[in-house]
Amino acid sequence: MSSTLNSTLFIHAVRLKRDAISDPGAYPFSVPAVQALSRMPMRAPVTILVGENGSGKSTLLEAIAAAYGFNPEGGTLNFRFATRESHSPLHEYLVIERGVRRPRNGFFLRAESFFNVATEIDRLGAVHAYGGVSLHEQSHGESFLTLVTERFGANGLYILDEPEAALSPSRQLALLVRMHDLVQAGSQFILATHSPLLMAFPGAAILSWEDGEIREAEYEDTEHYQVSRRFLMDHKGVLRKLLDAGSAEA
Ligand SMILES: Nc1ncnc2c1ncn2[C@@H]1O[C@H](COP(=O)(O)OP(=O)(O)OP(=O)(O)O)[C@@H](O)[C@H]1O
Ligand SMILES: [Mg+2]
Repeated sequence: MSSTLNSTLFIHAVRLKRDAISDPGAYPFSVPAVQALSRMPMRAPVTILVGENGSGKSTLLEAIAAAYGFNPEGGTLNFRFATRESHSPLHEYLVIERGVRRPRNGFFLRAESFFNVATEIDRLGAVHAYGGVSLHEQSHGESFLTLVTERFGANGLYILDEPEAALSPSRQLALLVRMHDLVQAGSQFILATHSPLLMAFPGAAILSWEDGEIREAEYEDTEHYQVSRRFLMDHKGVLRKLLDAGSAEA
């Protein structure tokens, strides 16, 4: 990725104010992603956090979004609704290294609260900006793709937690294509994903944490790629091994 492109990023890096933490053994400081964090650079317009379930991707993503000024429950930079305090105080301990540009668009997709975002859009009477049909009247996948095609735009900052959750494989590829267009138009994405399709985004920086450190991984070295590949190359063989092992244990 060229350095010219990097100079257009809205977030260059995220730092943890470790000295300010009084109880490093408690949530959210205890989760592996936060334990490994000192400075996390964003080298490319697409940064992808990968890691095992429970490793702290959502915790970290929410804190980055809140520290940047997004509503921690999700939505655009202007959304201010709150249904309940469900986010951690981690954002108070983060320093966001900002680029010189300000985003013209932005969206934080929080894994659990897309429903609340849709409700807020209806309440604001803003349905026209989202394709003209209430997101509540579309399927989960349809409403998410409507959001991405109608509401995401050029020069935007998009922080997305498992955007693949509602999407079929071919729609995940449609999302990848849309992301690519938006990156060409000056946007930045930070996502957490388990999708080996989205992870293949050309030039994405894939970050994972191992042995207490944040590392950048090659796509083909990720467990997601390797497990998916092994399975799709020989799903019968893999299943036979797994199920035989299971019945031997029973
Ligand atoms: N409010 C909370 N209080 C205490 N612990 C929490 C809280 N929220 C999450 N955790 C714990 O923090 C850890 C990290 O959770 P988090 O949701 O950030 O993981 P994740 O990497 O996003 O996982 P997944 O891939 O399953 O989405 C988990 O072990 C979880 O149980
Ligand atoms: Mg998560």
